[in-house]
Amino acid sequence: MQFSKFGEKFNQYSGITQLMDDLNDGLRTPGAIMLGGGNPAAIPTMLDYFHQASDEMLANGELIAALANYDGPQGKDAFVKALARLFRETYGWDICEKNISLTNGSQSGFFYLFNLLAGKQADGSHKKVLLPLAPEYIGYGDAGIDEDIFISYQPDIELLDNGLFKYHVDFEQLTVDDSIAAICASRPTNPTGNVLTDEEIHKLDKLARQHNIPLIIDNAYGLPFPNIIFADVQPFWNDNTILCMSLSKLGLPGVRCGIVIANEAITTAMTNMNGIISLAPSSVGPAYANHMIEKGDLLKLSTEVIKPFYQQKALRAVELLQQAITDERFRIHKPEGAIFLWLWFDELPITTMELYARLKARGVLIVPGEYFFIGQEEGWDHAHQCLRMNYVQDDEMMQKGITIIAEEVAKAYAG
Ligand SMILES: Cc1ncc(COP(=O)(O)O)c(C=O)c1O
Repeated sequence: MQFSKFGEKFNQYSGITQLMDDLNDGLRTPGAIMLGGGNPAAIPTMLDYFHQASDEMLANGELIAALANYDGPQGKDAFVKALARLFRETYGWDICEKNISLTNGSQSGFFYLFNLLAGKQADGSHKKVLLPLAPEYIGYGDAGIDEDIFISYQPDIELLDNGLFKYHVDFEQLTVDDSIAAICASRPTNPTGNVLTDEEIHKLDKLARQHNIPLIIDNAYGLPFPNIIFADVQPFWNDNTILCMSLSKLGLPGVRCGIVIANEAITTAMTNMNGIISLAPSSVGPAYANHMIEKGDLLKLSTEVIKPFYQQKALRAVELLQQAITDERFRIHKPEGAIFLWLWFDELPITTMELYARLKARGVLIVPGEYFFIGQEEGWDHAHQCLRMNYVQDDEMMQKGITIIAEEVAKAYAG
């Protein structure tokens, strides 16, 4: 079969597809220790809440209405309006329903946004999305219809006490010129759990405004929901910011709902793309989230249930890892948010791609660090020394998985 250029590119077995395959296999293979993909935890209080919400929505007709009707291409009106009000009231942001569009998961929102802005331009030039700090979210990597739409920069590494470290944007290096279409960063960052400081965000905003390009902030784990963020920072939005959110890490990845908060021009473009690509985004997630807003539960559950659940899990995972791996060359990125720990094995004699294969053979799934250095032109040893570990499993699974990681790392260092 002959595929088009687009077909050839999107028929690749990309990192993100492998990750989702591993996630699917891992979740369904008895005995597999799933420290790989980004599935959120099954938090009992949240599962009970969704059960109860489903009963209520079935009884009052909201659920069947969501299943039986298309929404408009911008996404469910009632939810978009309720969300705009929530942001106005919570943060005083000057937004209304004209600033919000929905997509089938934020992953597809990024596909729209990157291709809206980067790649081949009408004047024949080629523009890229600047990722100010690599490592960055694996899911961006293959999203361009055109090749080569990312450029990224290595961070400053700050070594901290207690075997931790933290990445910072190296502003000295960042070069923004006419070839840059937008700046984009996840905050909290998948894979590292880093949270860009308020100062870093303000500097990036200034840089974006100076060059008349948008700043895209991927807030899939951030404030005010799902609020998996442990650093003391402020959320950020203005009319030059494209803030992307998701219902997935609230515990609803199956409803595939992404949220894009931006100026009217971007909202209109997203709405038009939705019409062509999906007719309308799914109605089910927005119906649940709207129900949660009406009941006053969305922010409350995020703060009182989701955040403490993950924070306690992160601390426990750090404790287990530091007990199991005492080699001085091992460090963990300071866990400031998201649902992962980023482990750095300095001077590791094998790549983490190889380590991934050895761990997979023993039933432990992690994600090798190499995938996350999107947009990097130069080789960098550090990119082969890190891995991402999800910490949402129960304690017993975590302990088993960490014991096997410790054994394989010790073997690799010894070899
Ligand atoms: C940083 C980040 N952005 C975006 C996404 C996409 O999420 P979804 O498409 O489920 O909204 C993920 C998923 O794990 C993520 O980690």
